[in-house]
Amino acid sequence: MRRDLEAWLKDSGAGEDLQTLLLAAAGACAKISALVRAGELAGVLGSAGTGNVQGEVQKTLDVLANDVMLKMCRDAGVLAGAASEEEDEPVWFGDRAGAPYLMLFDPLDGSSNIDVNVSIGTIISVLERPDGAGSGVGPFLQKGRQQKAAAYSVYGPQTQLIVTVGKGATGFTLDAESGRWLETAPKMAIPEATREFSINMSNMRHWESPVMLYIRDCLAGKQGPRGKDFNMRWVAAMVADVHRIMSRGGVFMYPRDARDPSKPGKLRLMYEGNPMSLLVEQAGGAAFNGIEDILDVEPTELHQRVAVMMGSKEEVDVLRKAHAEKVDAAVSV
Ligand code: AHG
Ligand code: MN
Ligand code: MN
Repeated sequence: MRRDLEAWLKDSGAGEDLQTLLLAAAGACAKISALVRAGELAGVLGSAGTGNVQGEVQKTLDVLANDVMLKMCRDAGVLAGAASEEEDEPVWFGDRAGAPYLMLFDPLDGSSNIDVNVSIGTIISVLERPDGAGSGVGPFLQKGRQQKAAAYSVYGPQTQLIVTVGKGATGFTLDAESGRWLETAPKMAIPEATREFSINMSNMRHWESPVMLYIRDCLAGKQGPRGKDFNMRWVAAMVADVHRIMSRGGVFMYPRDARDPSKPGKLRLMYEGNPMSLLVEQAGGAAFNGIEDILDVEPTELHQRVAVMMGSKEEVDVLRKAHAEKVDAAVSV
């Protein structure tokens, strides 16, 4: 008999309030999954005709998924406030003032895939509400290492949910008939070695030299300095690309590039970089931003960007070395 999420949470060592919150968030993911599956039949495809604070066009599903997650987690009663990619400012629930948790989330990751029926997902990060906190952005600006839990759901051929409460990463598959999340990957483990990388190669001309050199060596294959042939995959939804890496290894990169020097990358720290990094580390992988571990980055803004290199340890170590050498070279000039 497979355990369901509720039974797993009871055994996980998480307190009751955290269990309640994660069950509510998983319920929201199941609901979003149903909307995703119905697609055009539910009239949920296309653009919402609005923009978010980051200047991106919002898809109908971005907005619907945001509303579903906010409502279901608020109703759970243990959340004091939430922040989302689709909300300019944090939403503080006045009627839940003393509640113990805060949540940050990306309601729909991989928006450009929605209308073409390719995998997408939802990402969540759970923080403790600091004592006395009840308004503003400040209480959300906690380092990734302080996360109490993280999870993502991937809406692919199967709908899966990967969860951590800091004791490893566990995978569940949604049983569409019963609506229950059943444990299907008790202890996810990212292989340390890999022959697969994931990066949007069309940005190559904008990359910084360590990433350029890293990819050049991968492309050189068996005859090159790495001594092995590499394969490449890019789904264009971080959740789906990182889920593949959680399942069979690989390295996922969205590095800082020269397109907009004011932004240290495309992905967002608080609801993409941090939760995915915690899950990757809990599965034995590593996550780096070119300077330090992503989980150690000191947040300064709710929607701040971060460079991302995560996955199999050996590859992240090669990237660390490439970045360290760059620093040395700059110092010696
Ligand atoms: P979102 O849909 O939440 O804005 O995130 C999309 C992100 C990420 O999921 C993905 O890896 C990346 O954007 C894809 O970027 P490209 O368009 O450069 O492929
Ligand atoms: Mn995203
Ligand atoms: Mn999104």
